[in-house]
This record gives sequence, structure tokens and C-alpha cells, in this order.
Amino acid sequence: MSCRPEENRQIDHRERIGIMCEFRITDLKVEHQREVLGLDIAHPRFSWILKSEQKNTMQTAYQIVVKAGEETVWHSQVCKSSQSIEIEYAGKELKPMTVYLWQVTVWDNHGHCAVAESHWETGRFTELWQSLWVEPLQQPTEKIKQKPIHELMSEEEANHKKEERDYAEFFPAHYIRIPFKVKATAKTARIYATAHGIYQLYINGEPADDRRLAPEMTSYQSLLQYQVYDITDKLLPGENVIGLILSDGWWSGRVGLTGEACQYGSTIGYLLEGRIVYPDGEVEIISGEKGVSATGPICYSDLFVGERYDARLENPDWCKAGYDDTNWQPVIPKDYPTENVKAQYGEPVRPILSFQPTAVLTTPVGETVLDLGQNIAGYVSFTINAPAGLTIKLEHSEVLDENGNFLNNIIGVNKDQTDYYITKEGEQSYQPIFTYHGFRYVKISGWPGTPEKQAFTATVISSEMEDIGTFETSDERINRLQKNIWWSQVANTISIPTDCPQRERVGWTGDIMAFAPTMSFNRNAAAFLTRWLECCRIEQRSDGQIPIVVPYLEAYQNNGESHSSCGWSDAIVAVPWALYQAYGDEQVLRENYQAMLKWMAYVENQAETGKPDGYDTFDEVRKERQKYLWNTGFHFGDWLIPSLVLNNSDGKAMMQTATATMGIVAPAYYAFNTAKMAEIAETLGRTDDASYYRELNKKIRTAFIEEYVHEDGTLDANFQGIYIICLKNGLVTDEQRPKMIAHLRKMIAENNGCLDTGFLSILFLMDVLCENDCADVAYSLLFQEQCPSWLYQVKKGATTMWESWGAITPEDKVSSYSYNHYAFGCVGEWLYRVVGGLQAAAPGYKYIRIAPAVDCGLKSARTTLKTPYGLAGAEWKLENGTVELKVMIPANTTAEVQLPEQAIAVDSSLKIADGCCRIGSGTYQFTYQI
Ligand code: BGC
Repeated sequence: MSCRPEENRQIDHRERIGIMCEFRITDLKVEHQREVLGLDIAHPRFSWILKSEQKNTMQTAYQIVVKAGEETVWHSQVCKSSQSIEIEYAGKELKPMTVYLWQVTVWDNHGHCAVAESHWETGRFTELWQSLWVEPLQQPTEKIKQKPIHELMSEEEANHKKEERDYAEFFPAHYIRIPFKVKATAKTARIYATAHGIYQLYINGEPADDRRLAPEMTSYQSLLQYQVYDITDKLLPGENVIGLILSDGWWSGRVGLTGEACQYGSTIGYLLEGRIVYPDGEVEIISGEKGVSATGPICYSDLFVGERYDARLENPDWCKAGYDDTNWQPVIPKDYPTENVKAQYGEPVRPILSFQPTAVLTTPVGETVLDLGQNIAGYVSFTINAPAGLTIKLEHSEVLDENGNFLNNIIGVNKDQTDYYITKEGEQSYQPIFTYHGFRYVKISGWPGTPEKQAFTATVISSEMEDIGTFETSDERINRLQKNIWWSQVANTISIPTDCPQRERVGWTGDIMAFAPTMSFNRNAAAFLTRWLECCRIEQRSDGQIPIVVPYLEAYQNNGESHSSCGWSDAIVAVPWALYQAYGDEQVLRENYQAMLKWMAYVENQAETGKPDGYDTFDEVRKERQKYLWNTGFHFGDWLIPSLVLNNSDGKAMMQTATATMGIVAPAYYAFNTAKMAEIAETLGRTDDASYYRELNKKIRTAFIEEYVHEDGTLDANFQGIYIICLKNGLVTDEQRPKMIAHLRKMIAENNGCLDTGFLSILFLMDVLCENDCADVAYSLLFQEQCPSWLYQVKKGATTMWESWGAITPEDKVSSYSYNHYAFGCVGEWLYRVVGGLQAAAPGYKYIRIAPAVDCGLKSARTTLKTPYGLAGAEWKLENGTVELKVMIPANTTAEVQLPEQAIAVDSSLKIADGCCRIGSGTYQFTYQI
């Protein structure tokens, strides 16, 4: 086989001038990312996408060559394989801070060949920093112990407190100047930087890039990310200045539910090294220790609380050469560790969208309120022409109250979400950089006259993942639901997967456990969640517990010995599995396998040793069975079951859902997880482990049924969600199953045809109904508009997913729940997979199944997904009983389309047998009557 790079260059060229290209390679990625700058991975994985105009295209062979300059460090040779994702580097040891060029050559089954190239740059690996940590002169932040979570203040108390605060305990951000000289035009110039706190980097007065909130949120004690900046083109001849603004962030700022400061430290600082390489090979190092610091216009900036900016204090040239910094203070070197400092893995947080508010409202009580028309996580910037000294106040909130007045719906300490801007003279613009808010409405005070909406821009920030999934139907309400799910995902993927962007912003493990499959469909979350899983492993306790919140903030560690909960901690099993299914990433299973085993061993031990109430009165048989039932300890249970929390905005009602269901949900989830563990072990070739978990799962199921399920298929814990979890996880005998289904059907009917599911059952709800001859019920739940339901929220004007189904009551009473929680949006995945009919029949969509639910009540649905192999799609239309189905299958994959016997393929050479048509890549059309 031969294929010369020149051929491909020619193809690229022809493509540019518009001639159809037959066969080419796109999306060259290393560790899920394009052209990464700074990767501390010794054996990175390569992937690419094949594009071909020809049907039934499969890769037959590939070859990868990796070079550092002229030196070839890896030549894979020609590998006869269709593998085009997750190919691990197996060459010479990679050197730190080096650019590697990689070239891939691919051959297909039609005799074509293509070549493509890309590059990545390694990080520092174990290279020692040639600078110490430094800190600007500062007053340490005081760690004011806040009330523990369960003693949170009342709504009145919280709002009262907000009014009277003077922000005296907040300190200014620090401005750092690091002047340096360049001798000649640099070949390359990089800055490696991180911080205790958050920082924004500048070079010669310009932002070094548009990333935000670096070094982002990780389990800092073991993993603090550094960022790499390419400043080659930003250097000036002679004198240059690196500038850095430093603020509290997650390090010492007020975070989490309690709003407590100093979760990691009380003083902020940075670690920075600049590295200039000249054409003659000389390397010049710029040390962060050379910095001088001062304060400036940012009087304080807290991630949650907001920012106060006094434009009169600006020094426009603070980051430029020639600025007089004689009054600035030298920074102070610190002997802090660097072992925890590793290159950022995954896409940075960036502004991803900007738009103007839809309206400036005057509320009934006369407030001026911007309406963005969309609930977001981000900030508002503005331009104003004003005299000096005006204080403009921007308060952010997600909702208006029932009368249409501004309402700060988030109760608790340090949930102000308020920015202050003090004007200088003339035309000026402002945008906060170290804070963000969860909001749709902004109350503006202090503005001279009435503001025009054109003066404002709303900016959405998020970890910059690629959007890969789309879903559109003939029903605008369903489309809005899908949009709401996307928006809640974007708002809750700022560095880590969070519960909500205004009240807590922490990595509640249960929320992502339920949502990971949907998240992985909407956007490419591979690197993002892989990084978060590393934090899960870091935070795992020595006894195997995975905490309820990751990174595990100190403020959340107030529950003694117990750090975990069923469903929440199970994220360590469910999230890697979701990534494996979506992206075919087997390494994420391997990487987390030991942590899964440890967690499962903890659970096993809890089940074996835990004695439920009344244990002493049990007979021997029942006592014996308890070994397989995880029915002790605290769990959040089927969190937020609507019938227990609707019309009850009190936080205590939430806890009722835990108390009512924890004893039954934990043993049921024990079954769920052992089954998953058996599958994971099987995938990894751990056959002994697989049979162990299969066996254990059987015993758990038997014990569960004997202990809890009555002959008539009911349980004492008579909740919809419990039946759903049982039906999904084989916690019912064949005889009981029809009775349980009939009972569930009746319960839903008696609940006005509405669901009554919490966090841990909702993810199974629609599948359980469809798999048990109740698809009609699933569809009616989907289109239900009464509370609680997905479309109820849509009907009430939701633009994101709500935490509680009835956060706004049918009577329009507005509660203090969050309006931006993605957990109940996990139906998104069912919509694409079942209504849209696009399914991964093999991990990563190497084998695709198309099986749309054309009888669901919609007239049409169109689903596309950029799979790891390329764009797949299913589009169906139903008109007068005739279904038209168009299917798109990417190169290097195959698929089956499930069809009724009477279906006809437009391409008559296709065979439909046993309700199935097997196809290769390409686009196809089918038609049939229903
Ligand atoms: C969070 C949830 C989380 C839960 C634990 C809430 O305060 O916002 O989403 O999972 O606590 O039950």
C-alpha cells in the first residue's frame, strides 16, 4: 500500500476550490481535542473522522507517524484495522514543552487513500518550575464559619441580611506586572501559569486569550491545573510586560451552598514561568517572581457575590512597557508545593455566546429590569456615557415574582449576585471578569435616565465543548424542552458539572449520574468529564466512599463518617459507562475501574454489616438476606419526588423525599450498579470480576424481591419512582411484573396522568414504560402539560430546566428553588434515542441502530449526532399514515434500521428481512405505512 502526502495536499486543494472530494480525513484530535497546547499525557490517544461520498466505506488500514522536528518518534507501520479512535501513542518517550507533528494515512475498502496532519504540544510533565509560587502583599480573607447546610437561614432572614451588607470583608483584586525584555524575534514564546485563586493573563495590555476563570475548579489539593499561552505573536521588540489580575475564585472566595470562604486557603497567589525560544536555540526564562503588584479598579470580585468596579481607579497603561510602577510592591516568594500542578486537561471556560436583552422592563413597583429572554450563566456588560462617580448597580435573578417585580429567588448567605460599577467621566464600557451569575433578569439602579437595551450585552460562559447533537420535531413545545435542556447543560458545565449556577455551583455527583448520557449527546463532554472523574478518584475516601460533591469542598464535609449516598456516589460507575457508550472510550473505564471496585467494596461492606431497624426481631432467613440489602445509612433517595415537594418551597420538604425513599432506593441501586459492574468488567476482559458481580446481582435481586415486593407486585414504598427502578433493574419476578406494571399504570392515571419521579427514577421512567407495553403512557407523559411535567415548565415560560417540577405553581406563585438544574433534563437522551431513533448499538456508534418511535404522536423528528466516526442522522415524517425515513450513516461504521415488514427501501438493492435492514455508510431512504 502506498499513499504519498502530496496526493492528499492535492485533494485538500481541490476541495477548497469546490470540487467534490471523494475521501478525506477530518477532525484530527489528540485526547479528544484539536491542536492542544500543553498536554501532560505520556501516551496520548489519536482519533480522526473519515469522510467519503461513496457508500459502504470502511477504513481498512491506518498508519500514524509522529515527529518532533525532523526526528520520527513513532511510526505505527501500516495497521490493518478499522480503528480510527482512541489509538494510543506507542513511540519514544515524549519530551516536555515540545511540538509534535502527527500525520495519519488511511486506506479504505474502495482503494482510496488519504493523508492528513495535525500537531499538539506537550506540557511540562515533571519539568521543575523555574519560579516559586508568589503572593502579592495582601490581607488574608477571613474564614467566617457559616451555618451548616441543614441549618440554613429562613427566606426572610436571608433577604434581610442582603440589604444591610457593606462588603467590608471583601478585598481588592491584585494587578501584577512582570516586565521583561526580548533580544530578538522569538521562534516561540509561551507562558505557563496557574494560581491560588483565579487569574486573567495579559500581554502588553491585551488579554493573552479569551479563556475565563483559569485555573478553573479541580480538587486543588492534588490537581491544580496550569494553563499554557502562546504569546509568540504578541511580543514586541525590546521591553514587554506580562500582566496578571488575581482574584479569590474557588480558592478563598465564597462558594457552595453555605457561601463559606477559604475552602482551600486564605491568601491568593500565582505560579508563572515565561519561556522564550530564540531561532538559535537559546531559551530565556521569565520568572513570575519578578512581578510587582498593586490594586486597581476591581475593589473586590467574588465568583458568587459579584464584583465592585470603580472605573476612576483605572490605570489604562498598567500592563504596558514604560509604565511607572515605582509605587508597586514586589511580590513575595512562597514555598508552596508544585507537585499538584498539572497541565489543564479539556477545553477552557470561554464566552460562548453574546446577545442583547430582549427588553427593558419597568416593573409594577417601578424598578428598571433587563429581560434577557433566556436564563443563562454568565454576565452582563454595558456601555455608557456618564459623569464620574455614579454607582450603577446590577442585581441578577432568574425570575420575577407573581406580580412581575424583581425577585432574588436564591436564599442563603453570599448569594447576592450583584455587580456595582462606579463611573469615570465620558464614554465607557464595563464587563466583569471574575464573577458570573445565574440569571435572566437584571435589576438596574443608578443608571442616569432610562437605559436602552442596546447598551447591554449578555455573555454566556461555559467550558467550550463542541456541540454535537441536534433534535428538532414538529412540536415547538418539545423543541423548546430540548433547548431548555441544552441551556441548563451549558450553564452547569462551567469547569465542572454543577447542580445549578446560582445557589451552589458544586459537583453534586447524583445530578451528573442521571444526566451524563444526555450531556454526552448534546456536546462533546469526553475531556470535560474525564477530568472531573480524576477529581472523583482524588476525593475518594480511603474506605472507598465517593463523596456526594466533587470537588469535595470542606463546607460539605459536615456529615461525620458518611460522605456518600446511593445514586450520587454511583456516578463513579455511571459516568465512565456513559462516556464509553457515547464516545467508545474504553480507557475511561480502565482509568476508573479501581475506584469503582473500591466504591463497590464499600457498598458491599455496608450491606453485609449494616443492620436495619428491627433486625433483632428478624428470623434467621431474613437476617441472612440482609447481607445483600444496602438498607442502612443516609441517602438522598429518589430526591425531589414531586408529590412530596410540590407546593412546599421549604427546604425541609426536599429532605422528606430522602427520608421516605432512602431505605428502598439504596438496595435497588445496589442491584443497578452490580449489573453495570458486570458489564464493565466484561468489557475490560475481567471475566472473574464479571461473574462475581453477576452472581452478586442475582443474590441482591432475590433478596430484594423476598424482602420488599409483595405477591401483588406492590411495595410498601408505594411510589411511582420505586416501581420504575424495580422494573428497570429486575427487582420483580416474572409473575409479579405484569401486576407491578398494571399498578404503575394505575398510579400514573390516578395522578392526573402525571409523573411522580425524583432524581433516581426519572432516568429510567420512559424506557421502563416503553419496554413494558406502556409506550402510550410514556408518550402521554411527554405531552402532558399539567404540573408536574416537562411541558408544564415549558408552558410556564421556562427557558431552562427547573430544580423542582412546580417551582412556579399553577397559580403563578414563585418559589426559591433553582430554575437551572439539569437533572430532570435527562429525558433528553430518551428523546434522541427513542423518539429520534438514533442509537449506539455498539459503543461510540461504531454500529448504529435506527429505530424511531414514529407512533409517539409527533408528525416529524430530525436527529443528528456528530459521533466519534462522523455525522449520523435520522429524520422521519409521518403523513396520512405514511412514514418517510431518511438515514445518514458515517463512514467507517455500519448500521441496522429497524422497520416493519411492509417497509420499502428507496434503493431497491437493499434487503429488509426480519424487520431490519443492514446498511453501511451513506444516506438512505425508506417508506412504510403504519
Ligand atoms: C442540589 C442537588 C443535589 C442535592 C442533593 C441540592 O441542594 O442542588 O441538585 O443533588 O442537593 O440531594
